[in-house]
Amino acid sequence: MIRPFSTSDLNAILKIERESFPKSPYDRMTFIHLHSLYPEHFLVYTGATDGQEDRIWGYIIFSPEGHIISLAVPPEHRRKGIGKELLRKAMEVPTLKRLRAEVRRSNLGAQAFYLRMGFRIVGAVPNYYGNEDALIIEWTPSISKRVG
Ligand SMILES: CC(C)(COP(=O)(O)OP(=O)(O)OC[C@H]1O[C@@H](n2cnc3c(N)ncnc32)[C@H](O)[C@@H]1OP(=O)(O)O)[C@@H](O)C(=O)NCCC(=O)NCCS
Repeated sequence: MIRPFSTSDLNAILKIERESFPKSPYDRMTFIHLHSLYPEHFLVYTGATDGQEDRIWGYIIFSPEGHIISLAVPPEHRRKGIGKELLRKAMEVPTLKRLRAEVRRSNLGAQAFYLRMGFRIVGAVPNYYGNEDALIIEWTPSISKRVG
């Protein structure tokens, strides 16, 4: 199930964030700030672990302009379609003209994921992560979807 983030999800989100972005994880205050900015676009995917409902299996944060600020699924739940479902929520926002994200050049898994989802690489920002480039990836809704 996908639902809006609530502050009680914070510890679980921080754990996933540290596992998923070990070189540059967002901290607690950043997530609180992002939630205050984009409460409708901070979504979590929940499932049941060991009989416990409502466990966090992934999250996405994006701006109303279509910037994907963070998207992560914990290692033990990857390749089950969770990232795809979360990203689809952003792709389905009818007012978005495009979605954009930055991905580390070395993050081949995320690049493969986004390309599979219909994104394309449109540029690069040298040393965006200090000592590593970011690739800029972008998706635009199809013309038929916009017209229809
Ligand atoms: C990128 C990420 C969110 C993908 O989440 P996920 O739930 O594993 O992705 P899905 O299961 O929905 O994958 C959908 C498709 O994308 C492709 N894909 C996903 N991860 C891939 C990988 N590591 N290598 C190659 N292809 C991949 C596959 O085609 C996959 O379909 P398949 O499993 O049927 O072959 C996850 O790997 C992650 O959290 N990575 C660390 C954080 C990160 O890099 N985030 C993105 C930058 S913002």
